[in-house]
Amino acid sequence: MELNAIIDRFLEIYGGTKEDLYVFESPGRVNLIGEHTDYNGGYVFPAALTMKTTIVARKRNDQKIVLRATDLEDVVEADISNLADYKDLWWGNYQIGVAYEMQNMGYDIVGVDVLYDDTVPHGSGLSSSAAIEVSTALMFATLHNEKKGITEDVDMVEMAKISQMAEHHYIGVKCGIMDQFTSAMGKKDCAILLNCIDLTYEYAHLDLKGKKLVISNTNKKHKLGDSKYNERRGECDSALEALKGAMPDKTCLAEISPEEFEAHKHLINNDIVRNRAEHVIYEIDRTVKSVEALKNGDIELFGKYMNQSHDSLMNLYEVSCKELDTLVFEARKIDGVLGSRMTGAGFGGSTVSVVEETSVEEFIEKVGKAYTEICGLKADFYVTDIGDGGHRVFI
Ligand code: GLA
Repeated sequence: MELNAIIDRFLEIYGGTKEDLYVFESPGRVNLIGEHTDYNGGYVFPAALTMKTTIVARKRNDQKIVLRATDLEDVVEADISNLADYKDLWWGNYQIGVAYEMQNMGYDIVGVDVLYDDTVPHGSGLSSSAAIEVSTALMFATLHNEKKGITEDVDMVEMAKISQMAEHHYIGVKCGIMDQFTSAMGKKDCAILLNCIDLTYEYAHLDLKGKKLVISNTNKKHKLGDSKYNERRGECDSALEALKGAMPDKTCLAEISPEEFEAHKHLINNDIVRNRAEHVIYEIDRTVKSVEALKNGDIELFGKYMNQSHDSLMNLYEVSCKELDTLVFEARKIDGVLGSRMTGAGFGGSTVSVVEETSVEEFIEKVGKAYTEICGLKADFYVTDIGDGGHRVFI
């Protein structure tokens, strides 16, 4: 919805006037390359979308957090003194999880009426949850600062970390930092090369020389919590333990080069665990090389790395599925497609492809048709713009 329409809806529901309203926005993300590397201390290369969560909020005079969304009938009313009690909500648990995490860190959580509007499709692998978390964290931090007379800007990297921890502690998914960091720190027309070991980052202007980024949504819902995400993390930990037999000082897979891996991989007895490590270590190497290629204006090479990334996620990390593979392989049949891969955690969600502008129409028509024939589902396509990270909107 347009911002004015969201504000009007807020006033319809909660009454009052515009004067005392706060507005915040935070986007979803697409990851271009560097998948399942963040929680191994490696590089990722994501970008923020223009699809986002918008929050309109107003302070209350009591201890209640009241949550509504423009597309839901549900109302969530949470008591600030019992924030641990809302983990089982089917909607609203991400928001209360953030408030709970912040309260435990010493933030003064104030009562609020809130209306959420999400344009990041839920379950699309485009981080609708990070968009909700980061905008919620920014709201509570802004209100906390105001109450305490703190005039500095909210630290958006801190908002990303809080949001990630809410997901670990409240939702139970041991996600990396990529989604929340991108939602907090994204920059228009740029991707972010983020080193997840210490959160150093640089913005890379995304000059695709007339090519477009096309996101294809399988519309097969993926649910991180239900998926094999935590299991994959455990397998990476086992691989590291085994490799430490020869390299005791290594603290994460990202510290191990492909050459070191080749020399010591025999220490990992389990074939599956060895494959997981192989994916992570080569994917990190690919990410660095692909950003180099992009900087040199070699979009074709960038696309090749994207293809390799998908094939590794499919064969070695085993987080793809029929729907993602169908979109990727149908995409690669189209002239003018330079690269195509799944993006995000996998097991459903979306793919991202680099497509010549002149081929976009053909892409959407042919890939869409083949996908429905093969998978029996309808895909959605977004020709993507890269937007800014989380911020307050002054109205
Ligand atoms: C999810 C997680 C991220 C990252 C990706 C896979 O999106 O939230 O931290 O691990 O999966 O790259």
